[in-house]
Amino acid sequence: MGVVGLAVMGSNLARNFAHHGHTVAVYNRTTAKTEKFIAEHGDEGEFVPSETIEKFVASLERPRRAIIMVQAGKATDAVIGQLADAMEDGDVIIDGGNSLFTDTIRREREMAARNRHFVGAGISGGEEGALNGPSIMPGGPKESWESLGPLLESIAARAEDGTPCVTHVGPDGAGHFVKMVHNGIEYADMQVIGEAYQLLRFGAGLEPAEIADIFTEWNSGKLGSYLIEITAEVLRQVDAETGKPLVDVILDAAGQKGTGRWTVKEALDLGIPTTGIGEAVFARALSSSLDQRAAAQGNLPAGTLKSFGDLGVDRDEFVEKVRKALYASKLVAYAQGFDEIKAGSAEYGWGVNPGDMAMIWRAGCIIRAVFLERIKEAYDNNPELTSLLLDPYFNSELTDLVDAWRDVVVYATRLGLPAPVFTSSLSYYDSLRAERLPAAVIQGQRDFFGAHTYQRVDKEGTFHTLWSGDRSEVEA
Ligand code: 6PG
Repeated sequence: MGVVGLAVMGSNLARNFAHHGHTVAVYNRTTAKTEKFIAEHGDEGEFVPSETIEKFVASLERPRRAIIMVQAGKATDAVIGQLADAMEDGDVIIDGGNSLFTDTIRREREMAARNRHFVGAGISGGEEGALNGPSIMPGGPKESWESLGPLLESIAARAEDGTPCVTHVGPDGAGHFVKMVHNGIEYADMQVIGEAYQLLRFGAGLEPAEIADIFTEWNSGKLGSYLIEITAEVLRQVDAETGKPLVDVILDAAGQKGTGRWTVKEALDLGIPTTGIGEAVFARALSSSLDQRAAAQGNLPAGTLKSFGDLGVDRDEFVEKVRKALYASKLVAYAQGFDEIKAGSAEYGWGVNPGDMAMIWRAGCIIRAVFLERIKEAYDNNPELTSLLLDPYFNSELTDLVDAWRDVVVYATRLGLPAPVFTSSLSYYDSLRAERLPAAVIQGQRDFFGAHTYQRVDKEGTFHTLWSGDRSEVEA
């Protein structure tokens, strides 16, 4: 196995391969980095360092397999070109970065034309996952999976039942598409945890360390997940310099590298309402609009805010309701993410199996959670599930969650605390279950001003009302 790019992710992945008994060829554009890698980790397994990409390629066993772990974008294209030049027919180039799936589709085509196999593989789990077992989402040609599969299975995380968290997702861009949606869900999951924190901190007046304890407790139940676990760690951390909770000295402006935004842009094109992910991306953008926020602070009328004491709820009950709102909103975000995977798969003809995605997200990745076992079961029970929310298990969970969820949305609104994903997810939920939507009004408006026509509930056909005439209806 070859690894190109020895920044943290690449070097950890190379070490992971070596720890599993594979001989690993390594190459980095700056030779000093390769030398440093060998000096620090050379004794962990069999490594074959090279100073040039040609030597690196020559050191690989055929069919050659090289995974690229460099920055997504131009750097990836440059390395692919160099590898393809040095490689021969049937060799496999794997892009393990967070590449945009449309770039992957293009690269796969370009490589196929040169008889090279190109595999765009989403890899999740951060630095720790790369070293000890990530969740891997490879796309590309089925033939390359035959030779790559066992290698990737050996280094992937394993779910509790021992299944490796990797599978062939589908052709060309399917792997990177699924990784993109994984990241979109990650954004929503992080945001709902943030909203729960906000309510507990500024609604119920709890201290970060107290909230950390609550999250630790939640982590042992149905909300058990890597993200809840690490949030407790973050909230417990005290800043050495000021003695304050670290969370209070971190600037509240969330960064983003783009995968969440891509998920939403693609959802817009596919017509899939990933409202939870969308609100999470916008929440990050809003948090980073520092000038606008500074201008608005203290200058926008807040209305008649209620204090926590006026809500008529005791703290323990409030905390439990926030847990339920978090759970319900998280469920919506996952349901929407899976809808996007299904729609993307249909649009691009990938044949992605949503249940398999739940299966390989059970361990190793950032969104790993107890809950993913249930999602896998939901798709095992019904591979054609229309929405995750309609699975009998989640449906009965929602019965238990929905009233608390509504209360929390009201509390947040009354206290003037922003909870965009809690709130919009509830609206999505209510829209989905509504017998009638105001879309009928919109169709009427469209027909009125632009003769855009409408359909009727009681007969087939397309109709238009002669609004500026005698207002009779004609068939369009
Ligand atoms: C993962 C992560 C990883 C990365 C995110 C961070 O699955 O291991 O998602 O890919 O940490 O891209 O994204 P932002 O910088 O946009 O938050």
